[in-house]
Amino acid sequence: NEIKIFSPATVANVACGFDVLGFCLDSVGDDMVIRKTDKKGIHITKIENFDLPFETELNVAGVSALAMYNAIDVDFGFEIEIYKNIKPGSGIGSSAASAVGSVFGMNELIGRPFNKTQLTEFAIKGEAIASKCEHADNLAPALFGGFTLVKSISPLQILEIPSPNDLFATIIHPQIEIKTSESRAVLPKEVPLSDAIEQWANLGSLVHALHTSDYNLISNSLNDVIVEPYRSQLIPHFNEVKQAALHAGALGAGISGSGPSIFSLSKGLETATKVKEAMAAIYSKTDIAFEIHVTKI
Ligand code: HSE
Repeated sequence: NEIKIFSPATVANVACGFDVLGFCLDSVGDDMVIRKTDKKGIHITKIENFDLPFETELNVAGVSALAMYNAIDVDFGFEIEIYKNIKPGSGIGSSAASAVGSVFGMNELIGRPFNKTQLTEFAIKGEAIASKCEHADNLAPALFGGFTLVKSISPLQILEIPSPNDLFATIIHPQIEIKTSESRAVLPKEVPLSDAIEQWANLGSLVHALHTSDYNLISNSLNDVIVEPYRSQLIPHFNEVKQAALHAGALGAGISGSGPSIFSLSKGLETATKVKEAMAAIYSKTDIAFEIHVTKI
């Protein structure tokens, strides 16, 4: 009657895939407990580590749970406990982990009537209250794992993209908060055609490179000419961290989701670990505290 789940952090955008591409960080995430109760409805009974709303309609996990609850006909309810490890506003899919965790757990408890795409549909409702818009590029990799591409939101279509065997991510999270809604507000409403051409060429190439394990092409494709120029200004020392990662051998680096976290991809654990040291060294010279993770994708 209860299930304990791990809901992973994710990196959205991956440089050239704004709002469509993302990957899962298997070793970083929240723990949640979902429990069936006699009392009908959705009740959030515990939130640890961060100050988030307990009201179901105001809580990301609650809103996605309600979306699913309204689609099923049952004479019981659910309690949700959230042990939040992913800091809200960190750029590694904190809201998505909450949104996905509640519906994944509920679905398990009632015999899996919904597939992962349907669960993503419910989770979008929760994600939308955090970022003030519907996007699924963190939700999809949290549910499916690995790399995913959101082909469209309406109707929701998610593609699973393979990961080369030796691909590792290094993620640094400076302990400042950037709200997704704020970092979306700095983006231009229109982009020059020449930038759009460069961006979709990179995204197409990156997806091809992931399919063919072409590390050189991954490296050449990890560029963001549309979003990074605006958002990087919100992240202290972004360019130094990115250059340090590239200099240490990373295939590429960029802003993780809406920031302030910065991700890099590397071939092999050894390089990813050198990259970790190089990225950490930049913030170590400042008074900005940070967390850093290396994980296989
Ligand atoms: N694609 C989204 C953005 C991810 O960059 O705004 C953040 O949740």
